[in-house]
This record gives sequence, C-alpha cells and structure tokens, in this order.
Amino acid sequence: MSMTSADIREAFLAYFASKGHQRVASASLIPGNDPTLLFTNAGMVPFKDVFLGDEQRDYVKATSSQRCLRAGGKHNDLENVGYTARHHTFFEMLGNFSFGDYFKREAIQYAWEFLTGVLQLPKEKLWVTVFTEDDEAYDIWAKEIGVPTDRISRIGAKDNFWAMGDTGPCGPCSEIFYDHGAEVWGGPPGTPEEDGDRYIEIWNLVFMQYNRQADGTLLPLPKPSVDTGMGLERIAAVLQHVHSNYDIDLFQALIAAAAKVIGTEDLTSKSLRVIADHIRSCSFLIADGVQPSNEGRGYVLRRIIRRAVRHGNMLGAKGPFFYRLVAELVTQMGQAYPELVDKQSVIEQALKREEEQFGKTLERGLTILNDALAELEGSVLPGDLVFKLYDTYGFPMDLTADMAREKGLTVDEAGFAKAMDEQRQRAQQASNFGMDYNERLKSAQRSEFTGYDQVAGSAQVVELFADGEQVEHLAAEQRGIVVLSATPFYAESGGQIGDTGKLIVNGGEFIVTDTQYIGKAIAHHGHTTAAINLGDSVQAHIDAERRAAIKRNHSATHLLHAALRNLLGEHVTQKGSLVTAERLRFDFSHFEPVTAAQLDAIERQVNEEIVSNHALQAELMSIDAAKAAGAMALFGEKYDDQVRVVRMGDFSMELCGGTHVERTGDIGSLRIVSEAGIASGVRRIEAVTGMAASQYTLQQQQQLRAAAGLFKTDWTHLVERITQQQERSKGLEKTITELQQQLAAHAGSDLVAGAEKINDVKVIVAQVHNVESKALRSMVDDLKNQLQSGVVVLALATDDKVSLIVGVTSDLTQRVKAGDVVNTAAQAVGGKGGGRPDMAQAGGQHPEQIPAALAAAKEKITELLR
Ligand code: ALA
Repeated sequence: MSMTSADIREAFLAYFASKGHQRVASASLIPGNDPTLLFTNAGMVPFKDVFLGDEQRDYVKATSSQRCLRAGGKHNDLENVGYTARHHTFFEMLGNFSFGDYFKREAIQYAWEFLTGVLQLPKEKLWVTVFTEDDEAYDIWAKEIGVPTDRISRIGAKDNFWAMGDTGPCGPCSEIFYDHGAEVWGGPPGTPEEDGDRYIEIWNLVFMQYNRQADGTLLPLPKPSVDTGMGLERIAAVLQHVHSNYDIDLFQALIAAAAKVIGTEDLTSKSLRVIADHIRSCSFLIADGVQPSNEGRGYVLRRIIRRAVRHGNMLGAKGPFFYRLVAELVTQMGQAYPELVDKQSVIEQALKREEEQFGKTLERGLTILNDALAELEGSVLPGDLVFKLYDTYGFPMDLTADMAREKGLTVDEAGFAKAMDEQRQRAQQASNFGMDYNERLKSAQRSEFTGYDQVAGSAQVVELFADGEQVEHLAAEQRGIVVLSATPFYAESGGQIGDTGKLIVNGGEFIVTDTQYIGKAIAHHGHTTAAINLGDSVQAHIDAERRAAIKRNHSATHLLHAALRNLLGEHVTQKGSLVTAERLRFDFSHFEPVTAAQLDAIERQVNEEIVSNHALQAELMSIDAAKAAGAMALFGEKYDDQVRVVRMGDFSMELCGGTHVERTGDIGSLRIVSEAGIASGVRRIEAVTGMAASQYTLQQQQQLRAAAGLFKTDWTHLVERITQQQERSKGLEKTITELQQQLAAHAGSDLVAGAEKINDVKVIVAQVHNVESKALRSMVDDLKNQLQSGVVVLALATDDKVSLIVGVTSDLTQRVKAGDVVNTAAQAVGGKGGGRPDMAQAGGQHPEQIPAALAAAKEKITELLR
C-alpha cells in the first residue's frame, strides 16, 4: 500500500523535526506586510525577513508544509490548469530551512536520506542538477553522496539560480529529478528533450546567499542559508506510481466528489481536474480572508471560481455545485489545515453566493459568445466582445480566453484593455460630482471644523477673497468668500454637499450660499450686507434644518451601501455619491439592472436598520486599524494616517468625514425613487429620507387614489379592475375590426355595382371611409378580383392626411400604369407616389382636395384608355 499524501506530508515534517527543525504551521496565502507579492507562492515566503536578517526567531532550522498559490500576478499557472499533468493554482510545498545554520552539505545529505532512506526511492531513478559554477555542490553530490557523474548536470541561471521575485532573497540551487521511465517521452535536464514528461523535478534546494536589489545588484545575506521546496503533489505521484498529479489519492477523492455532485460518469474529464484544482485554491483563499470582488486578490478569486463554474456547466451541472465540494476538501485536508474546518461554512456561503450570481448571467453570456464564434471570421475574438462579456455577463478575460482556446482561437487583449480603459474614464466622469470653481484659489489656512456637534459658533475672519483674488476687505453688498478660524459649516467633500446659512458680522449678515474647501481652508461663499475686514469677529449659523436633512441622507447612504453589498454581493463598491438635503444619490458597480424585488428587499433592509435605532459611533483611528476592523474604504482613495470611522450597529462601518444623525431612527425612513444604469457596469440609485420619504409615499398614495377613483374602486382592487378593463378593451377592438371588415365588404360591393365604364373598361373611382389605411391594399385587390378586368382608384382621409391607391388588373397594365394615375392624383393633394404597374400608392396632405384628385385620376384614365 503506497503512502497517501497525508502520510508523505507527515513523514517529511517528522523527518526534519528529528533533525532539530522547528515545525512551523503553514502561513496564510496572503503574505503579511509584503507589497511585492500578491500571494504566498513558495515555502520560504513567510521566512523572507528571517533570511534577510530583519527578523529573529527562536529557532534557526524550520520545516513546513506551506500552502501556495500561483494564480494572478507574475507567477500565474491558472490558464494551464487542466491542460497539463502538473500545473496547479494551489499546491503544497514541503520545505526545510536553515537560517544561517547548516548550508549545502547538510541540505544535500538530508534530501538524499529522506528520498532514498525514508521514502525508499531507488537511487538509480534520481538525477540532479547544480548551478554551472557551483563546484562545491557538484563535489558533494559526486564524491560524498556518490551520484554517478553522468546523472549530474550543470545548468545555468535560468533554472538553477532561484529568486523569490525581482527583489529579495536568492541564490544558486540544486534540483533533484525523478525518472518516470523509458516508456514516457523526455530527456534528462539540460538536454533538448528536457521538457518531456520523463524526468520530473521533485525537489529544489536553494542555497540562499544574496538579497537582490531593485537595480539587480546582489548584496550578500547576513549568513548563508538554505531554502528547499518539494511539491507534495509531485512526490505523491511518484510514490503512488501514477504519472499525473491528478491521479494521486487526494485529487482522485476530490474528482470523485465533483463527479458525484455534478452527476457525470467520466472521471477522466479535463473539467473535473480543473474543478478539483480550483476548489482547493478558492477554499483556502476564502479561509485566508479573501472574498470574491472586482479588485486585486478578490478578483483573482472570482476568476478562479468562475472558471470552475464554467467547467461544471460544461459537464452539465444544474445549479450551484462548487460549494458542495468544500466538505470533501475538509475531509481530505482539514487535519493538516485546521483553518479549513473552522471556516467551512464561511467558504461554502461565499462560493454559493458567487456561483448564484455568476449563474444568472452565465447562460446568456455563453449564448452571446457562441453566436459570435459562429460568425467569427479569422481566429481572434474582438476586444469589444470580450469586454462586453466581462462587463455585462461577468466573464473575466481569461475565462473567455480559455473558451476561445478550446476552439483554437485567441482574444484581442489590447482591444479589451482599451475598452476597459474607456469604461474607467466614463465611470470617473460619472463620479465627478464636485464643483471646481475655486480651483484657482490658494489658501494656506487650515480651518477647524466644529460642525460634528455644533450648528453655530463664533470665530475670526482669517482670509477673504473677491473676484478670484485674495483681499483684505469686503465692501457692503459685495460677493466674496470668507474663511474663518473655526466654523460649523461643512465644506463639500466625500459626496456631502456644503452647508448654507449666515455669518453675523458688524451688525449685518454674510449670507452663505455654499461651502467649499480651498486646500484645507473651509471657504464660505456668499454675499454680505455689511463691510467685512480681516480679524472681524463673526457668529456663524448654519441652516440647521437643511443640515439635519443632509445628515439623514448621509447616514442613509451608509445603510444603503451596506444593504446593497448584503443583498447584491460584495462586488458592489461605491463609484460615487452625492448627499444633499433633498435626496441621496449612490453610484455603485453592478453588472445588471437591480430588479424591483431586489430594490424592495434593499429598501426593507435599510428601514429595518433605521427602526433598530442604532446609535452612531464615530471614532478616529489609524488607517491600518480601520482596515483591520473591516471598515469599508474606497479602493484607490488616498487616506490620511488618521481616519474617522463611522459605525451603525454591526450593520455598517465606513471611513467617512461627513456629518451624521445621532441614531439611525432619526432618519425616519428611506424610499428608493429610482434605479438606472449610468455607465457600463455602474448603476445609480436615488433615494429620499425623513419628511421627503413621507412626502414621496403621500404622492404615490394620491396618484393611486386618483387612479382608483377613475375606476370606481379602491387601491386594493385597482390591478384587478385594470385587468378587467384591458380585457374589455381587447374585446371591443376585436368587434370594431370585424365591423369595419363588414362595412368594407359592403362598401366594396356598392363600389363594384357603381363602377362606370370608360371605353368599355370598368373603372371605380371613389373616396372610402372608416377603413384603416393599412387595409387599402387588400381592399383594392379585392375589388380587382371582383371586377376581373378594370381600374380601381381609392382615396382615404385620415386626420389631415390623404392616402391614395390605384390598382389595375394585369390585362390592362399595358394601357394604364397604376403609377401614372396615382401620381397625377397625388399632385392635387400635394403628394407623390410610386409602385408597380398593377398597384401604386401615394400620400398627400390636403383632404379637402380629394374630389379634385379623384377627378384628375379619372381624366388621366380616360386619356390613357383612348
Ligand atoms: N523556494 C524554492 C522554490 O520555490 C525552494 O523552488
């Protein structure tokens, strides 16, 4: 019975523990405090600072089984997963590390002993490589270990000088390869056939010696060190005598589970491999705190989930299936990674939510894509199509590329990037709510804002502006800008509009019509009834009622934001907001219109939180503490080190400098008044609160009452009555059509009976009534049939327009062309016409001229029949 993956992991850690190594638990996939890395992508990442000498630990030798992710960013294997036997987004790296303790000799001896002694791999199956210039490592392998020199290759920097990234610890390395046997194609390392699958690298021993600088120079590390990495999945494949990593115990269990939840039989399907790989990376990412989103790590997660969902869909999955694999993963890996067990339900929920969300657009997106593929000329999918799939249907670009690749196509990445860029600009424009009329003004003042808890206060005038210039004096009745040492007036920022009010000064008033920032100065814009000088004392009073309305709308905006994220998903991020006294406006990222039912649920949730009457808490804290606490911050926004965090119960927590109600109950209630798209992927909701919400409800009620009155019922029966009325109308319309047909038939037989003869040809020239103009043609056909041989000219007046039509039976078209007749008639009503010799039509504008038109037609026919 061969060793399971769990046995191998344990054997490795136990072996190195027996050699004095500290067992260190796997660190998170999210590197702590390392902006150079998106994800932990090697076993040494958590030890980076220890190698560099920047961090001391109480051990100098360590061993770990580190979870690693290679998707997104520079090390990206995502696209290869499923297509090769050995690529994974997620894998486990077994490693032993020496921080200035042992170096090459012991590293090599340990590796050899573990492989050939503990795991019992046949020595003759192993090959090794060393860095071209590393004679020391070569000699250890050749002379001390006794590896035959024909199985040692010297390799250049590309493969045998390992570096963590563009900067950081690095050094020459020595790799150990396993020979899968002559039946598999491929050659030893360093030969032209090395990319075949016969010789597979299983272990990399890195002799860490340098710290690579951004400019490429190599500074020596404080002490020579060792970093090794062996992929657990690869070594398991070797020990379990299987060729593909996907055939090892752990993957087979996941693949079987996936086949079961999807309901497919073919366990060899490429898509099952993709799903088995992706459930590992996605589950661990979520366990490590990442949530699907449209940015950064969250977007990598979203891409992987959506790729898995698409593959499930190809296998015929009905509804969400991916989240149902978490249980099997926990069975397989929970013992080694307790965080998986703890987070199982969090992971399941996040996956399910994302699956449901993507599921909604997946099918429509696939239809669009397949239609486009059917019509595609050439082998490149156009960028704007790729963008549309991304923007409207949530298909990440690499997902579309994946599907294209299955059909032997590629995607226009540059075109996609361009479309993305254009959208970014549009969204930016849409969120440029601010005014910039004081952009030219400069101020070095920093006003104290006292308005979080005050609506009035006294202060000194510290700066004055008029006509775009800094001045020392404002004359009575002059327009200008006043800056005070301290003020309760809120300057427009963070989407909240500036306050209005008045400054009482020198026995007069400066009426403040707007408040804006000039740099850090709070600038009161307005006009004054009294002269103002620098240094004057003023009493500042904001329009407190207006401010109270603004506060209600601002606090409600936070509740709305949180409710949107709860109910639509975490992809909802703020794209802009405007808070005024009258209403609030909130722009956010979302791929499709919010349905009426969703809007109702959002409105209800916000109102629940209003009724809960949470006390608002605002506190200053460091930006790091705020983010750690989970406060919602705007992506890409630059924040000061100290930020203000506004909390409403457990429901909402946002970074915000704005003014807010004291308790959510102060908002009164919220009513959503509109929802619309304003740019691709950006929606806008407008809402009202307080008395405006009440007013809105009253207006709706009045409308409803008026409508119900018209139907002589009350609002509860209104829909029923309208439905009845509509059916009645439909019945009436049908009756009218039938009656018209009867009338026309009648009129038709009258017309035939009254046909006159011109030169032995039967001719009908008449004005008809109560006929739809669309019915004229069939009426003429009908008359022609009845006449068998003859000419028909009909005129119809509808409102102030005239329709003329002329029909000629085919035996007469040599003599009378319908077009000639209709044109002659049309001239009399100011129109023009055309058509075939047997049927022509014209329009005109003077119904009172119809008799003249008919007379002209008759004259023309007489002339033609002569
Ligand atoms: N850090 C080395 C690698 O990832 C062991 O290959």
